Amino acid sequence: MRDSEHGFERSSLHSIEHSIEHSIVRTSAFAPGSIGNVGPGLDVLGAAVTGAGDTVVAEWHDRPGVTILEAGAPDLPTDATRHTAGVAALAVLRAATSLGGQRAGRGIGLRVHKGLPLSAGQGGSAASAVAGAAAVNALLGSPLDIPALLLASLEGEEMAAGRHLDNIAPSLMGGVVLVRSLDPIDVVSLPVPPTLRLVLAHPDQRLRTADARSVLPAEVPRGTAVHQLAQVGAMVAALYSCDLALLGRALDDRIAEPARSALLPGFCEAKAAALDAGALGASISGSGPTAFALCDGDAVALRVAEAMARAYASQGVRALVRTARIDTDGTQVTCTRSEDA
Ligand code: HSE
Repeated sequence: MRDSEHGFERSSLHSIEHSIEHSIVRTSAFAPGSIGNVGPGLDVLGAAVTGAGDTVVAEWHDRPGVTILEAGAPDLPTDATRHTAGVAALAVLRAATSLGGQRAGRGIGLRVHKGLPLSAGQGGSAASAVAGAAAVNALLGSPLDIPALLLASLEGEEMAAGRHLDNIAPSLMGGVVLVRSLDPIDVVSLPVPPTLRLVLAHPDQRLRTADARSVLPAEVPRGTAVHQLAQVGAMVAALYSCDLALLGRALDDRIAEPARSALLPGFCEAKAAALDAGALGASISGSGPTAFALCDGDAVALRVAEAMARAYASQGVRALVRTARIDTDGTQVTCTRSEDA
């Protein structure tokens, strides 16, 4: 879409055209937050969430390589090799160079704007990585396709939070995504039932993904594995058939949730309150501490949000609660060309 009044061009990832000879001087990419491990889908099922997300602005810079001009938060590193957006951007630059799409000697500066809270379980590290990768790719004339962007973003996520795509893939592509394989990357977009609503409850707590991953069991009994497989299969079937009751029954995680709930004061009470108020199901968003509930329709979602807020408060935990939908747009990129600058 061309917006002549504001002098910029906005496009979804899917419609960016590859052009090495271009006049783009600045790009901006917004990547939505996401729920990782949707219920039983540890590391394999993720959903993009409407509302908050991270934005990365990329522009040409005198210093070769990638320079972080704004890190996004005082706690985040300004060294590009230690910032998720910087690592993903460097990976894009490397891939583009190998394709012959990067002009020698030009560097890129990044400004990161964090809309997502840090260490919250809302896909913040993934969103920064995806936005960094998408913004740099667009600045270079979009030489990379979606699988290559997933791979580059995964480098950023891996450095910060471990090698998993369940936040990266929905943040880039939108919707609900099943990660079938990391090597090679193979992801499957799943349908989104139209009345499906989300409630996200973010307790006033930070939990680093690395710490939350350290409590995951290295092995699980066969019965647990079989149960978990059945639930993931049922979730996929429920999304295809719009069977929200089945979706709720299948939201039954017996691997991550039991291990992590001990780290999350108020979670069990909030989950029970969500189910009492009519949620289809509830679990931990990503590695936590945010909890999420799935609901059928706006009215139930509002009731569930109030119930989860009350439950956290009853445990002396302050929590920010919001309702949302599955974001089906994924990452959005805006390009500014030299004649517009
Ligand atoms: N799948 C990841 C985990 C999500 O559970 O650690 C982190 O947001």
